[in-house]
Amino acid sequence: MPVSITRHTLFLFTILVATFVHIPIVIAEPYYQGPESCEECHEDIYKSWEKTKHFTSYRTAHKEKNAKKIAEAVGTKKGMKRNKDCIICHYSTKQKKADDKPKVKNGPSCENCHGASSDWESVHSDYGGKKVKKEQEAQDHKVKRINDSTAGGLIWASMHYDLAVNCAKCHGLARQEINEEAFGKMLEAEHPINHSFEIVMFSQGKMSHWEDKRSKAQLANLFIAGQAAKLVSASRAASEAKNEKYKEEQLKRVSDAAAILKVIPEAAALIKSPSDTNAREMMKAIKEKDLSGLVGKLIPCAGPDEENLKQC
Ligand code: HEC
Ligand code: HEC
Ligand code: HEC
Ligand code: HEC
Repeated sequence: MPVSITRHTLFLFTILVATFVHIPIVIAEPYYQGPESCEECHEDIYKSWEKTKHFTSYRTAHKEKNAKKIAEAVGTKKGMKRNKDCIICHYSTKQKKADDKPKVKNGPSCENCHGASSDWESVHSDYGGKKVKKEQEAQDHKVKRINDSTAGGLIWASMHYDLAVNCAKCHGLARQEINEEAFGKMLEAEHPINHSFEIVMFSQGKMSHWEDKRSKAQLANLFIAGQAAKLVSASRAASEAKNEKYKEEQLKRVSDAAAILKVIPEAAALIKSPSDTNAREMMKAIKEKDLSGLVGKLIPCAGPDEENLKQC
């Protein structure tokens, strides 16, 4: 007995020390460095982003019909670019150092989708020193580079669910940083919510910035990720909502997404109990599967089926 007590005490002590040692790491929040810091290496992608509404809306959104009315509904006369309730979705910030004040500089940009870059930018593209080319990178260096970048918050193109979570935060009016009361007032002041938003259809056209055409299986996987992110964000928002209009909009998102996910056997647990954990479990279960036969026809416009594509 005394032995096990000693071990137990030692164990608790170790946890306590580990917690202390880790505190400084937790405090340093990653921050946005702005799309200009990506431009040097991803020039073509930067140029194609400049043609999207995400870029152009920086100059137009605040002048659109109802912009003033919506801002005033949440109780502020501040312009959209100075209003935190608008900035979080309509703009991206940038800063040079951790303790600089973030400045509103662009519409939604690279880091809104791929993650705040301060902890991964210098890591993700370093093949092992300035002179080392991609082909020369050591295998163990590659594994470490990919793992460290992901741990630093980089959302790679293959991380469909994480990308979809980010789209859904803005395009579903269901992000946790803003309370449901404010969302309710925005909707009553005629803030739009586009129920036809769907990640494949909204990413494969003008917004796309990749050369390789995605396969049918990849598009089907992206489509499912989009529905999963929609279901999870909407059911959380609906369960918290007291504002009638807001609740109604979120319940519609829940039932739209659930109706689609129903065709995938692996989604049963997620539909029954929508949560981030269940969504990730489902994505893991379908990872290697080609579900284009099952969901291809459900994808609007840009889906894997050529016939579907022609409709738009
Ligand atoms: C110094 C050059 C450089 C800079 C600066 C840079 N990148 Fe990269 N990026 C690369 C290279 C090279 C790769 C390919 C890495 C590989 O081979 O795995 C890459 C890969 C990526 C990927 C993953 C692509 C995939 O296939 O999944 C994303 C996303 C990305 N970069 C976004 C950004 C963003 C956003 C910024 C700005 C915050 C940025 N990069 C800044 C060079 C750079
Ligand atoms: C949760 C994210 C989110 C927040 C917060 C948000 N918006 Fe929006 N807003 C959007 C999206 C996304 C659209 C595009 C419509 C769509 O896809 O549903 C949009 C569209 C608009 C439009 C119409 C733009 C056009 O091109 O016609 C106006 C005006 C607008 N928002 C004003 C505001 C104001 C003012 C605030 C702050 C009080 C605000 N929004 C807060 C996400 C948001
Ligand atoms: C609105 C969200 C969004 C924005 C903004 C955005 N990306 Fe992407 N990015 C994506 C998606 C979605 C994919 C592809 C996912 C897939 O493979 O289907 C992608 C793919 C990529 C890739 C992989 C390209 C390839 O050939 O496979 C790189 C690199 C990248 N993005 C960098 C950037 C950079 C740099 C910016 C800013 C100039 C940017 N992205 C802006 C969503 C975004
Ligand atoms: C930080 C918030 C944010 C994120 C993340 C985001 N968007 Fe957007 N997006 C917006 C806003 C706001 C608008 C509307 C701008 C306006 O109309 O003024 C918009 C508009 C668009 C448009 C143009 C729609 C139209 O009717 O012209 C497309 C396409 C789009 N987004 C696709 C995507 C996709 C796909 C993703 C995820 C891969 C994504 N967005 C992620 C905020 C965001």
